[in-house]
Amino acid sequence: LKGKKILITSGRTKENIDPIRYLSNNSSGKMGYSLAQAAVDLGAEVTLISGPTDLKVPNGLENFISVESALEMYEKVDECFKNNDIFIACAAVADYRPKEYKKEKIKKSDSDLVMELVRNPDILLEMSKKKEKQLLVGFAAETNEIRENALKKLEKKNLDIIVANNASAMGSDENVIEIIKKDRTSVEISQKSKIELAYDILNEVICELEKTK
Ligand code: C5P
Repeated sequence: LKGKKILITSGRTKENIDPIRYLSNNSSGKMGYSLAQAAVDLGAEVTLISGPTDLKVPNGLENFISVESALEMYEKVDECFKNNDIFIACAAVADYRPKEYKKEKIKKSDSDLVMELVRNPDILLEMSKKKEKQLLVGFAAETNEIRENALKKLEKKNLDIIVANNASAMGSDENVIEIIKKDRTSVEISQKSKIELAYDILNEVICELEKTK
């Protein structure tokens, strides 16, 4: 991957409700950080845009950008996208954020609370509309009909590769994945560490890059 610029998103996003509470999800960021480490070790120039995680920044990584919310992640990706050859969207971005951020702590009352949520931008979908030379890789973490849902995302987001996996692997050091390419050929990979999977995924990326030469 020498001479290639890779942009990777990882981690979860945090959507603040008030100074104390937020909406988020269980993603650990391990898959994205493993991809960033493997890409650095394969000679790529890597930019990692990460939501909150407990992980340490990969060794030798040149550009690390820390963000919290989906909107912040969108802005940073949008700035970096045109300058990269490959975009791997591995972050578990919150689909919704509270419509209104309350500057003061919301006080409880005896009645129920209804909170209005608004849609966050789909970062990968928006980048697919701006795609020029970039190779796009997405992830689909699903609880059911994993392959069918992944294929829908591959098509909707105009991806070159989608990595389908079971959402139950969130937070784990290992996973089972299926790498599906836009020509619908696929590779199934049985239980492995996320760092080994990162090499398998990047191997498919390299094969796709070869085809565009
Ligand atoms: O959330 P969803 O299952 O649609 O995620 C599929 C892909 O889209 C993932 O690669 C994820 O990182 C990306 N995504 C994104 N911005 C969102 C939602 C998802 O980039 N708001």
